[in-house]
Amino acid sequence: MNTEIKLSQEFDKKDPLRKFKKEFITNNNEIYLDGNSLGKLPKKSINKVKKVLEKQWGVNLIRSWNDYWLNMVYKTSSKLEKLFNASNNEIIIGESTSVYLYQILSSLLNSKKYNPHFISDNLNFPSDLYIINGICDSINSSSKTIINYKSEIEANIQLLKQTIKDKPGIVTLSLVTFKSSWIYPMKELNEWALKYNSIIVWDLSHAAGAVHIDFKKSKTLTAVGCTYKFLNGGPGSPAYLYIKEGLIKNIKNPISGWFGHSNPFSFLNKFNQAKGIKKFSNGTPSILSITPIETGIDLILKANTKIIEAKSKKQSEFLKSLIHKFLIPLDFKIESPINPLNRGSHISISHPESWRICKSLQNGPLKIILDYRPPKYIRIGISPLYTSFEDLAKTVLKITNIVNKKEYLNYSKEKPRIT
Ligand SMILES: Cc1ncc(COP(=O)(O)O)c(C=O)c1O
Repeated sequence: MNTEIKLSQEFDKKDPLRKFKKEFITNNNEIYLDGNSLGKLPKKSINKVKKVLEKQWGVNLIRSWNDYWLNMVYKTSSKLEKLFNASNNEIIIGESTSVYLYQILSSLLNSKKYNPHFISDNLNFPSDLYIINGICDSINSSSKTIINYKSEIEANIQLLKQTIKDKPGIVTLSLVTFKSSWIYPMKELNEWALKYNSIIVWDLSHAAGAVHIDFKKSKTLTAVGCTYKFLNGGPGSPAYLYIKEGLIKNIKNPISGWFGHSNPFSFLNKFNQAKGIKKFSNGTPSILSITPIETGIDLILKANTKIIEAKSKKQSEFLKSLIHKFLIPLDFKIESPINPLNRGSHISISHPESWRICKSLQNGPLKIILDYRPPKYIRIGISPLYTSFEDLAKTVLKITNIVNKKEYLNYSKEKPRIT
């Protein structure tokens, strides 16, 4: 393993993004490989939030809505427009991914522009499937097809295309899937959907900030996604909704909240929906949670998503080679696509003792934080702005030691119940 550690250090020396690590708060003697769940805290976000609390809320009080806060929402949305190569006023932030997904799916359904048929698959995030089911349960005329691929790792693109062709409608997919990190061919599927009178709502939660996304080039019409993973916006930081300009005018927000009114501060009894993406606003935006998002996006913009993606691919290939050499002989399996072109920015592995191995990794002089997903998966998240090659080599080394010495036996099999 010494050779691999040395090699990882060589890679780190040549890493064009190595200077970004110091932009984040880092615990000593800890490796954090869970940025695909909750990104790290950018140092600059601390003062930004402090300023909003102490000066804008503390001193300026309600005047801050006009002086800072309304503008902050638009400024942050426009940073996302830059990140994804969208046009002005095509992105809004403020709700959770689940709420935005509900809004866009319902509005597309109500527009009667598409068959009232939803399509998704078993690789999608459960909340996205719950939202589809919920809409179908409440609107009798709608139906759904949830494709069950044989694999939990890869989508069968031919089957997906055939399903869209046979029964067109409103498709929703996670661009990078939460379990295996499978990535769909975005442009190819958007074009296919268009050809067969369908539309795809992309969930970018596991992709944004780690994968290069260009809405114009990929012909994307609509998307949602969270900001707390690779975008490092903070715990529960609000999500975004993107709708291409030409589509916005033909659809209506199913929620008629006052922030979606054309003139909310006229306090009229009659609801008159705003024009443009603003019509998808609902209520008062959560300023404290929106505040740190901009710093997170700025770092990603500065680093450049093409360079981030290239590093992520190089790192996940390095990690894959270490898994093959050291972990496969110890009863681990790779649960992610083997081809890096089909992978986002994490690798899932499995082992019968995954849970206790994860507990074991969190203890000792070097703590390693990974993501356990029941029943047997460990997700190793690569966040290229702060994950080093050495982090990956040391993680595989520690897992190897834990399994060889059976250190995981010191931990209980019991899992805390999160309610
Ligand atoms: C792919 C994906 N979609 C949706 C969600 C849910 O997002 P929210 O909690 O913002 O509704 C998550 C949460 O982790 C996710 O990973």
